Amino acid sequence: MNFVNETEKQAYYIAKCKEIISNREKELGRKLKACVATFGCQMNFKDSEKLIGILNEIGYEETEDEHADLVLYNTCTVRENANLKIYGRLGYLSKLKKENSNMIIGLCGCMMQEEHVVEKIKKSYKFVDLIFGTHNIFKLAELLYERLSGQKSVIDIWQGTTEIVEDLPSERKYSFKSGVNIMYGCNNFCSYCIVPYVRGRERSRKPEDIINEIKKLVSEGVVEIMLLGQNVNSYGKTLENPMTFAQLLQEIEKIDGLKRVRFMTSHPKDLSDELIDVMAHSKKICKQMHLPLQSGSDRLLKIMNRHYDKQHYLEIVDKLRKAIPDIGISTDIIVGFPGETEEDFNETLDVVKKVQYDSAFTFIYSKRSGTPAAEMENQVPQDVVKDRFDRLLKVVNEISSKKTAKYEGTTQLVMAEEVNSHDPELITGRLSNNTVVHFKGTKDLIGQELKVKLLKAKGFYYFGEIEA
Ligand code: SAH
Ligand code: SF4
Ligand code: F3S
Repeated sequence: MNFVNETEKQAYYIAKCKEIISNREKELGRKLKACVATFGCQMNFKDSEKLIGILNEIGYEETEDEHADLVLYNTCTVRENANLKIYGRLGYLSKLKKENSNMIIGLCGCMMQEEHVVEKIKKSYKFVDLIFGTHNIFKLAELLYERLSGQKSVIDIWQGTTEIVEDLPSERKYSFKSGVNIMYGCNNFCSYCIVPYVRGRERSRKPEDIINEIKKLVSEGVVEIMLLGQNVNSYGKTLENPMTFAQLLQEIEKIDGLKRVRFMTSHPKDLSDELIDVMAHSKKICKQMHLPLQSGSDRLLKIMNRHYDKQHYLEIVDKLRKAIPDIGISTDIIVGFPGETEEDFNETLDVVKKVQYDSAFTFIYSKRSGTPAAEMENQVPQDVVKDRFDRLLKVVNEISSKKTAKYEGTTQLVMAEEVNSHDPELITGRLSNNTVVHFKGTKDLIGQELKVKLLKAKGFYYFGEIEA
């Protein structure tokens, strides 16, 4: 078969799978169900929307229940815990497969890019039918077709890719907001991090592809987008016609009907004055910056290969706050990186106190095989790490609840996002700075920006009331 491009080739396999699934449906007298469970970051969630989009076209009915005809885990391996979770759930799936021998079990995503993982699955989890990685998710229909036509286990892992396949089907989780990839991969090789090994080299999407995707989303009712990349501040460097992230944002700002733009993640080393200026003058870019610190110690930042120091980081925060006074700043921090001393840790605490983060994700260092940090001999004892982690969390939480309370009593614009999962009379929304607000309302408000009076701050969120 000759195809014009990959998108057309996959459309062919989607049609082939559809035939088989439709026949099965007739045999069974019911629709076939597929469950895609996603672990990890926003990139994986975005990938899963594409996987679900493909499965929907094939004719599967989407379900969150793993008692399904096809279960696909889109995995994460950034920390050991993420890995362990998958092995645990695979044990459960093997039981389900005993009840339904036609069940297809698939694994994809970051964990599958690690050779030792695939080896272990081949050896100890033989009931897994389908294994693919991060670079070829667009091939789901083709791989599934091989399995459906009788091949026992289908394994296809690519070491890397330069290819970006556009125009795949995709099924959005929210009607009014969507993630949009602007780049894939990462070139930074922070010494603790597995992402560059499992996601490959940095590749920026062409601005016209990004803009067209956003325009299409807006025409379908999307009003908020989240631009995704491991280091959005280095967007555009590898394009044929290089362009900066700030320039891309200015183009996106022009799209009529789009109301809110967010992005993540910003690496401090590449955050430009141009970006701060564009944000300060923008009507659509949210007043929010996720700026991972990792550590406040210059010594550790160097060993982590982060390419900034404490002072530079604090200067960026200062500039951001001067230019955009009510910006919400959040961060990621790792505790217990190899060789971390009490002094290093105190430097981290010092930055946390100086910056006064609106929120912070704190992680215990996790050794990832293949990364330089995993080879370092001076790993910090567990009890020391745990003690530091608890101390850090306490400081972080105190600061963030104080920061959240700052707007109590004021009226702010809130994007209504979803019906509250605990109380169906409440709607949950977000301020521009990303703070969560719950307020009385009905489902039809979702996707609207409303004036909400913030009545009471409760730790990380508010209870509010729509203003007439
Ligand atoms: N590209 C983003 C981060 C992606 S991973 C950036 O550079 O900021 C998300 C977060 O996971 C990181 O910011 C880091 O804090 C944490 N992380 C990554 N590797 C880790 C490891 N080995 N152990 C613990 N936390 C880790
Ligand atoms: Fe990992 Fe660093 Fe790349 Fe972020 S920038 S994904 S922490 S290597
Ligand atoms: Fe995890 Fe892969 Fe994201 S390792 S954090 S899902 S890029």
